[in-house]
Amino acid sequence: MTATDAPDPHPPVPVLTIDGPSGSGKGTVSRAVAERLGWHFLDSGALYRATALAARRRGVDPGDIAALVSVARALDIRFVDRPGDDPAIFVDGEEVSRALRTESTGALASTIAAIPEVRAALVARQRAFRQRPGLVADGRDMGTVIFPDATFKVFLTASPGARAERRHKQLKQKGLDATLADLLQDIEARDARDAARAVAPLRPAADAVVIDSTGLEVEAVVDRVLRLVAARAADRTAG
Ligand code: DC
Repeated sequence: MTATDAPDPHPPVPVLTIDGPSGSGKGTVSRAVAERLGWHFLDSGALYRATALAARRRGVDPGDIAALVSVARALDIRFVDRPGDDPAIFVDGEEVSRALRTESTGALASTIAAIPEVRAALVARQRAFRQRPGLVADGRDMGTVIFPDATFKVFLTASPGARAERRHKQLKQKGLDATLADLLQDIEARDARDAARAVAPLRPAADAVVIDSTGLEVEAVVDRVLRLVAARAADRTAG
């Protein structure tokens, strides 16, 4: 073995990025994959939602960029694992898991996520989640902007109709109310906004594997992602 063949004593922490639009099943799939791999999990959307919620509670004008940036920088957010459930999310010491999931918080999150300064204020915080043994990062720009050197990249998508139906079911389970037609309209509007924004628009990284989850059960998607990770890991070892 020559010096160049020697294994790197400090290989980078592996990252699997899972990007895609809301309702693609990203959150559920990412969490399940993280659990199966025993890796950490970053719900980057929760950071944008928490910034939106904290800004609204402090009466910050959504047009006041400097104030939004201060809120994003100072965000006091904590994720607490709950077995068999989504992690509980605390902002400023208060549990806000439900308040973060409402459509109004999502809409404000989408608006502030289009502001480059707000995105920049959240970059270091997101990268800090990259810890051993590995990280599954769920978002819109995980593979393109936050972790461009990620080991594995997936772009998960589904038809707008399928995504609206999933969201409807999810909200009903959480006791929140919304009509299917409103959700579809909301999803299409948010997609257009997320894809058209100048910074970090929603698009697959050039080296991402695109998976369309329309008509697929969660377990089938999780299996495909895990198989992809295993195949890539084997390629890298062989290469
Ligand atoms: O994934 P989500 O619905 O919780 O995300 C909330 C909003 O934040 C959504 O409109 C897109 C935005 N977002 C983003 O711009 N970049 C990310 N990495 C994650 C979410």
